[in-house]
Amino acid sequence: MSRRPASTTRRFADGGGIPLVGSLHPKSRPSPLLSLGLVVVGAFLIIGYLYSGSGGSSGKEALSRLEGGVSCSLEIPKALPILKKAYGDSMRKVLHIGPDTCSVVSMLLKEEDTEAWGVEPYDLDDADSSCKSLVRKGIVRVADIKFPLPYRQKSFSLVIVSDALDYLSPKYLNKTLPELARVSADGFVVFSGYPGQRRAKVAELSKFGRPAKMRSSTWWIRYFVQTNLEENEAALKKFEQAAAKRSYQPGCQIFHLKSHH
Ligand SMILES: *[C@@H]1O[C@H](CO)[C@@H](O)[C@H](O)[C@H]1NC(C)=O
Repeated sequence: MSRRPASTTRRFADGGGIPLVGSLHPKSRPSPLLSLGLVVVGAFLIIGYLYSGSGGSSGKEALSRLEGGVSCSLEIPKALPILKKAYGDSMRKVLHIGPDTCSVVSMLLKEEDTEAWGVEPYDLDDADSSCKSLVRKGIVRVADIKFPLPYRQKSFSLVIVSDALDYLSPKYLNKTLPELARVSADGFVVFSGYPGQRRAKVAELSKFGRPAKMRSSTWWIRYFVQTNLEENEAALKKFEQAAAKRSYQPGCQIFHLKSHH
């Protein structure tokens, strides 16, 4: 499938009246005590993740299984029963953001009690007819996620993003992650590749504008702490319990974050 960054002319199809997100990052200098607190919280988060076995070894297994590369969008159908256990009612209105969003959205729409929408960060040049129909109905949109998302705050109960963040530099992550927190009501889930993993369709990487950079869980957690994004511990706990029960080994790193409210 061929993908290019979405054309900017389309991204504000109905983006009027989007609240400014600037206030989410006040420039005030944190007190030394607060900084120390953040370091301690960060250390606990890191230790928590290291010991929670969020799948450090399973990445390599997944890699050898899927020799053509790994797509975290393809991981979502496998994770769905676990996500339902962890999020329950919060699966009512789901927004998926990432490549192959048409197939993820179609899969979610088959679930009872789930409405779904999608944002495709790259052009859908060779979309099949069912994907084109989702775009026509406004269920799937093509939008460059480096810019504000064309939705009001808390439009969705849950936002799931896969792969797309791996292509963004920290400068753009700083803009995009608060957007995920803004448009979600009950939290958002990040599916991201393990370091050393090869993305699917390596030959097409140049079309994403920037090669994917697989960051470690330590990197991500430090990043979340720095940008005041809080881990959704309740969801993480339920997710891990359900995953253990079904011997589910994620092929991607999965982070559970809280919405900003
Ligand atoms: C991202 O935001 C954090 C926290 O506000 C800041 O410390 C960091 O310098 C920013 N990074 C970039 C590349 O702008």
